Amino acid sequence: MKRNKPLRPSISMLIGILVCFMLAACGGGGATVGTTAGGCGSPPKLAKKDHYRVGFSQNASNNPWRLAETASVKAEAQKHGDTLVYADAANSGDKQVSDVQSMIAQKVDVILVAPTTEKALVPAVLQAKAACIPVILIDRDVDHTLAQPNRDYVTFIGSDFIQQGKRVADWLIQATHGQAKIIELEGTTGASPAINRKKGFDDEIKTAPGMVLLASQDGDFNRDTGRKVMATLLQAHPDVTAVYAHNDEMAIGAIAALKAAGRHPGKDVLVVSIDGERDALNAIINGEEGTSVQSSPFFGPISFQTIDEYASGQKLPDWIVVQDLQFTKVNAAQNLANSF
Ligand code: AHR
Repeated sequence: MKRNKPLRPSISMLIGILVCFMLAACGGGGATVGTTAGGCGSPPKLAKKDHYRVGFSQNASNNPWRLAETASVKAEAQKHGDTLVYADAANSGDKQVSDVQSMIAQKVDVILVAPTTEKALVPAVLQAKAACIPVILIDRDVDHTLAQPNRDYVTFIGSDFIQQGKRVADWLIQATHGQAKIIELEGTTGASPAINRKKGFDDEIKTAPGMVLLASQDGDFNRDTGRKVMATLLQAHPDVTAVYAHNDEMAIGAIAALKAAGRHPGKDVLVVSIDGERDALNAIINGEEGTSVQSSPFFGPISFQTIDEYASGQKLPDWIVVQDLQFTKVNAAQNLANSF
């Protein structure tokens, strides 16, 4: 009996099936120019309109920085008369992926995403592209080996996190005359600010041989986690003389842990961090914290300006760098009013 030859799908058939699957999974094409991944540009183009339906996928709402960012984006959407489709992922990469998928299904015009981690959001970014909806990353980036600006998404708008870590290290080296035993409280593992703030700081302290990193551990960008991690590390390293926290919330938690252990933050242990939130500025004013390098959360105006420029056909850079201040005893009080 003659048997049929098994069907061997070609590479292009497989790619076609994949794209069809992605478009179906995403609920079809977005309300932009064109209807297929090939036909709407790479990254997808955005038709010029008076008003847009803008998706904003926020990764969490668990600290003043995130609340300030959300408020800034919401206020700017309102100013432009745009409709904001908002979702908060509650610090879950999986939820954030499904939040973006829901925005794709709702056929928004463009999506702003503040990714939890560098890798978790890549599938959602690629699905939006397949559905012809442009994505602009704000505040945190994704892994460029998996998705690229000006190809898979429009651009990344955000701070130079490596530079932030370096600026904190430079301040600490100067304040301690290059002699310190440091505990580092890292942000959420896999998030671009955690990766790069560590790199910037760790590389810079290597230039001063007296700066010793005793321990470095994840505190999840969270005040209470920072406090608990600090309390544990303090027991293992009572000789600590400096704490570098990747954000102010963990620095405030570390200050609480130090005080609970009978230490004197600002005197026997210097505390330094990043963000520029109100509690950190007050800690600088009262002498418990040394410096906080700003990481501006005010993404509303620059995001909506970027949407307009992209719709007008402007070629955008891969990275729109947000410029940050640095707060110390010299300028903390005068910046309190603009803090969050
Ligand atoms: O992505 C920016 C960082 O995320 C901020 O420094 C931090 O406070 C937030 O959770």
